[in-house]
Amino acid sequence: MTQSNSAAGSRGLWSSRLAFILAATGSAVGLGNVWKFPYVTGENGGGAFVLVYLLCIFIIGIPIMMAEVFIGRNGRHNPIASFRLVAERNLASPAWRASAIIGMLAAFIILSFYSVIGGWAASYIGHSAMGDFTGGTAESVGKLFGDLLASPVQLLAWHTVFMALVVLVVSRGLKGGLERAVTILMPALFVLLLVVVGYATTTGHFGEAASFLFTPNFEALTVKGVLVALGHAFFTLSLGMAIMMAYGSYLSRDVPIGRTAVSVALMDTVVALLAGLAIFPVVFANGLEAGAGPGLIFQTLPLAFGNMPMGDLFGTLFFVLLLFAAWTSGISLLEPVVEWVEEKTEMGRTFSAILAGGACWALGIVSILSLNVWSDITPLGMFAAFEGKTMFDLLDYFTANIMLPLSGLLTALFVGWFVAKETLQSDLVMTGGAFTLWHVLIRYITPVAVVIVFVYNLIG
Ligand code: PHE
Ligand code: NA
Repeated sequence: MTQSNSAAGSRGLWSSRLAFILAATGSAVGLGNVWKFPYVTGENGGGAFVLVYLLCIFIIGIPIMMAEVFIGRNGRHNPIASFRLVAERNLASPAWRASAIIGMLAAFIILSFYSVIGGWAASYIGHSAMGDFTGGTAESVGKLFGDLLASPVQLLAWHTVFMALVVLVVSRGLKGGLERAVTILMPALFVLLLVVVGYATTTGHFGEAASFLFTPNFEALTVKGVLVALGHAFFTLSLGMAIMMAYGSYLSRDVPIGRTAVSVALMDTVVALLAGLAIFPVVFANGLEAGAGPGLIFQTLPLAFGNMPMGDLFGTLFFVLLLFAAWTSGISLLEPVVEWVEEKTEMGRTFSAILAGGACWALGIVSILSLNVWSDITPLGMFAAFEGKTMFDLLDYFTANIMLPLSGLLTALFVGWFVAKETLQSDLVMTGGAFTLWHVLIRYITPVAVVIVFVYNLIG
């Protein structure tokens, strides 16, 4: 059974297909693009890894994104209610909505620590603008980062700023909030990225970076590399967090879901490749290690920018870019939860956003304290696999390695096996070979691939 746009009632719709694409891309583009993708690409054979990654985006990423958007648009409610409605309409068990429950819980938990890291980006805008990195040494830049992590007060202040920015946008609703924010922030982010790439071409190491990223070296590609590509395809498109269901619930009936998902995946990939071209020339120009993790962004890069001509200006622009990327991702993490609170309580948009954002802010304090006062507390430390993991580490681990793949797997199985083919064809606005390909992927290939990553992450 399908629905018309009028079934959206008073909830409102994105004003265009582009608005949805910008919002979904805003969610997708984040730290995963800016530091993780360039790094894992370089580590796993450059162009060879990019090819495998593109394949993974195609066989896991795009099919699951389509399934999530389908559920949201067919249900036209918050992710949990939408899932239940779609299940009822297809005479399936309402228990399938566990997928949305797990996804929303994950979104809530992830936002609690994502906001802490978003706060770091905000504080670094100030540091680079004020020239705190100018002429810096590895020691001075490292100390600045260390001092930030060691200070619960500073961390809390920036976490509060970031969460307030997210709540501000989400509380203003779909058109006045989300849509307005992404139509300003996403083009700005793209321009900033091009400016920083332009700057990177002046370092004299652009060619080196390009070959690091694109030369296909199949010998450096291992089984592990393929699994990393699979896992990253999932994370980079913000799947398994009910986000695309929430965003899909505001999508007009006449938008073809398949082509739209392809556009989002393409934009996310382009940003990831550009980020690599922005960062690695700077890293190589300074003879720095292309190390992984937050260290690259918050220690290596400031050191590099601080010692280059006009580095303060471009460093500042880089951290503004990073804040925008994190902001639009933060918005997308809060939206499903707020949509749910709003429908459950009839408290209205503003209060729902403040309540959900406030609860998430409070949970964020656990992550903040894990970085300093509670850094020795490792609740599951008695198990070898969790040795040395703080509460922050555990929240990250359980969401990324268990909740997201589980939610994605349930969505793929439900949509692939329990939703009527006719409904899918008419809702996805897809027929013929393209539909058959997607249906085979979501039924067989995607679930198997997700299970493989899932098991690998648990034992690896
Ligand atoms: N997709 C984002 C990235 O690639 C990460 C993210 C995860 C964003 C969860 C929102 C929610 O960085
Ligand atoms: Na991404």
